[in-house]
Amino acid sequence: MNLLFKTSSLKATLWQSELQRLVPDLVIRKWPDFGDPGEIDLALVWRPPHGLLKTLPKLKLIMSLGAGVDHLFEDPELPRVPVMRLVDPRMIGEMTEYVTLAVLRLHRLDLTYLEQQRERRWAEHIQPVAAERRVGVLGLGQYGSDAAFRLKSLGFDVAGWSRSPKNLPGIACYAGESGLAAMLARTEILVCLLPLTPETEGILGAGLFAALPRGAMIVNVGRGRHLVEVDLLAALESGQLGGAVLDVFREEPLPEAHPFWRHPHILVTPHVAAATNPLTCAPLIAEAIGCIRHGRPVANLVDPERQY
Ligand SMILES: NC(=O)c1ccc[n+]([C@@H]2O[C@H](COP(=O)([O-])OP(=O)(O)OC[C@H]3O[C@@H](n4cnc5c(N)ncnc54)[C@H](OP(=O)(O)O)[C@@H]3O)[C@@H](O)[C@H]2O)c1
Repeated sequence: MNLLFKTSSLKATLWQSELQRLVPDLVIRKWPDFGDPGEIDLALVWRPPHGLLKTLPKLKLIMSLGAGVDHLFEDPELPRVPVMRLVDPRMIGEMTEYVTLAVLRLHRLDLTYLEQQRERRWAEHIQPVAAERRVGVLGLGQYGSDAAFRLKSLGFDVAGWSRSPKNLPGIACYAGESGLAAMLARTEILVCLLPLTPETEGILGAGLFAALPRGAMIVNVGRGRHLVEVDLLAALESGQLGGAVLDVFREEPLPEAHPFWRHPHILVTPHVAAATNPLTCAPLIAEAIGCIRHGRPVANLVDPERQY
């Protein structure tokens, strides 16, 4: 089988050696010089150029080199071929670590104390305990539910929001449009773990911020385009929001002149919450290739209508 491989990862060589070890007869064709498009059976890609995948007439499966598939559905000419995403327990664990750290930092007023340290100012603030802190998680999928359970285990008062109704032990579950308003009204720290789709783009904007209690804080680990950046700056300026931890941005790398870098109430990380790991993800790809070969159903296919 011939696999088109396109990545910008620093771990491209490790990816190739792991795939070759697990599927010795796989022919890996690296983009952009991948030879005859008519020979490609499978695509393992991150941000393929628009129109590329439709030029592969024998393509049987498109595999995203990440948990998200928004980078594929952005292509207006995406062919009607099954799309698989990575669901890797290691990545989910990494994300939960990141979210836990971010929520704890906001909960323990780290942004305030960092600012005070820069000013050499000694001042104490009232500190609630976790049980008195209401956290809301947007998206209760693989990542959101794992993060919600960990936050709950740390004692936080946790709610979550999804499209379809859920029943997760210990988590106050909300669904749909009306559920969102109810969850936001009780949320002091909001974590976005939604997929980016036409429905969720721009969800972290002025309207949503206004529905949160004054001084609420946000963590965005979904995608940069969930956030309306000017609305975040305005909400921080007015005091409607008290702080933000951001891992994803509309433009990545975040431009040097971007106001987020120096904002005293924003913590920035360079899209590192959960990185794709070839050692744990290559076996998932090998498994999918085996399924295609033997006509078995492939796991973790996305619904092209919902785009997640
Ligand atoms: N920053 C990073 O390093 C990083 C790493 C990995 C992933 N991510 C991001 O995390 C996202 C989530 O991944 P996942 O694996 O948890 O996805 P998932 O398993 O597909 O879960 C998505 C969740 O979002 C909910 N949802 C989707 N559209 C909605 C809508 N319109 N209204 C309400 N709820 C909606 C779904 O509701 P239902 O359950 O009702 O379907 C589901 O609970 C990825 O798409 C990616 O963007 C970021």
